[in-house]
Amino acid sequence: MYCFLTIFALISLKEADNLRLGDGSSGILANTKYGTISGKVFSTPSAKEFYAFLDIPYASPPIGKLRFQKPLPPEPWKEVLNATENTKICWQLRLRSEKVENDPRENEDCLYLNVYVPKDPSENEPLAVMVYIHGGMFSFNDGTFKSYKPYNFVERDIIMVSFNFRQGPLGFLTTNDSVIPGNVGLWDQNIALKWVQQNIEAFGGDPKKVTLMGHSSGAVSVTFHMLSKQSAGLFSGAIAESGAGIHQPKLQSFPKYFAYKLAHAIDPKMGEHNSSAELLAFLLSVSPSIISNITKLYMKGDLRFSNPVIRFADLASRYVDVYFYQFSYFGEMNANRDVLDEEGLGKAAHCAELPYLMYYEMDGDTKTYPKSDIRMRHILSDLFANFIKYQNPTPKRDSRLQNIIWPKLNSNTLLYLDIDDNLTIKENPRYYRQCRTIFDKYYEHPLTQLN
Ligand SMILES: *[C@@H]1O[C@H](CO)[C@@H](O)[C@H](O)[C@H]1NC(C)=O
Ligand SMILES: *[C@@H]1O[C@H](CO)[C@@H](O)[C@H](O)[C@H]1NC(C)=O
Ligand SMILES: *[C@@H]1O[C@H](CO)[C@@H](O)[C@H](O)[C@H]1NC(C)=O
Ligand SMILES: *[C@@H]1O[C@H](CO)[C@@H](O)[C@H](O)[C@H]1NC(C)=O
Ligand SMILES: *[C@@H]1O[C@H](CO)[C@@H](O)[C@H](O)[C@H]1NC(C)=O
Repeated sequence: MYCFLTIFALISLKEADNLRLGDGSSGILANTKYGTISGKVFSTPSAKEFYAFLDIPYASPPIGKLRFQKPLPPEPWKEVLNATENTKICWQLRLRSEKVENDPRENEDCLYLNVYVPKDPSENEPLAVMVYIHGGMFSFNDGTFKSYKPYNFVERDIIMVSFNFRQGPLGFLTTNDSVIPGNVGLWDQNIALKWVQQNIEAFGGDPKKVTLMGHSSGAVSVTFHMLSKQSAGLFSGAIAESGAGIHQPKLQSFPKYFAYKLAHAIDPKMGEHNSSAELLAFLLSVSPSIISNITKLYMKGDLRFSNPVIRFADLASRYVDVYFYQFSYFGEMNANRDVLDEEGLGKAAHCAELPYLMYYEMDGDTKTYPKSDIRMRHILSDLFANFIKYQNPTPKRDSRLQNIIWPKLNSNTLLYLDIDDNLTIKENPRYYRQCRTIFDKYYEHPLTQLN
């Protein structure tokens, strides 16, 4: 079975290459269920080549009557689709008054994904796949190559998929009824995962070895898919970095009243006297840039990361294997280095580890980083790659990983890996054990409104 898939994948890349592109361009072809795409060869900073397929449509453009609606599968195409460039991102919520100009890539037609494929994998089997969900408070960022680099993963024989999804009001506005059902940004993620199941074999990937990974609101999304029946069977591993879908005040910032408030801000004649259908008709008549320009309208408040994350890990460990870590290393490559040092929390802030994994926001950065940072990049990438490939971050002792064996989390011992210069097994993160009874008593029960 495995052999067959590999051979099939190689043939489909090679044959198509010979057959279809005789015009001197070095197109790399892959046959998706919806049509053939042509990608190109990129290199990692350490000069390992890989294939990149950019801006593959994974859903029909959510425009016109499809605005605010659940995504539909893409329309098939006949000609070879040129998938060599990222040209579109979803509308970004304009929260900061100083940033009012549009990014020329912003487009309501934005449901595109990217597939990065190791060129000469050392393993002769279908490859493990990592699907990356970007963060950004469900309001901004994108899944483009510029934003998140696959280098560490393709170098470790892993296929990476990243994608855009609708965000801000275009992704999450709801009338709390079927007129504007809400959470369509999460449905975009769901249909992207279905696309991966249907198509990843054509790239040499194993649909049974898909790990979802995300940071911040992307991690929150990962945990939603772990809980949702709609996403059951679409992935077999999950990595949530600094975020969990319990106790997320953010998600309740978009109820019905906000839909009216938004409409009213655009046209004062609109208000709660209008029906859901009238509200929808009105919001379909204005441009996406106006809908996304809601500076000062809302969005304040503090996101607390560590408590829900530990809580989620504790609950999940009753059903699946959970490996819990705390990233304590404070290097020059850390993201959010200037975030205030909260008492007792150390200096490694929310999302600190991302640049080590994704070259996040390091595009064009010519700075040379200390050896210890490069070493941390290898350590983190090895741990994550092991999990993606074997569902175990330390399947065997490895001197590069200081010969450590990272134990599974369980509710009693609450063992976890502290990732600093030295990798250390610790227990009971953030005095969680002592707080657990408080959580049990007072925390909101999660997800009562999602299906
Ligand atoms: C694909 O698009 C890129 C960028 O626009 C262009 O340079 C390239 O020639 C195109 N390739 C084909 C086969 O059309
Ligand atoms: C957003 O609104 C601000 C203030 O109302 C305005 O100055 C700006 O031009 C608007 N930007 C867009 C992209 O519509
Ligand atoms: C949404 O609708 C449900 C059922 O009609 C109702 O119970 C719930 O309170 C509503 N939520 C909001 C935020 O309006
Ligand atoms: C909203 O309600 C107002 C007042 O009843 C009405 O004049 C307006 O036409 C309604 N808007 C839409 C889009 O139906
Ligand atoms: C890391 O381990 C080495 C060797 O055991 C030790 O010398 C060093 O002090 C440790 N560093 C930290 C930050 O604990």
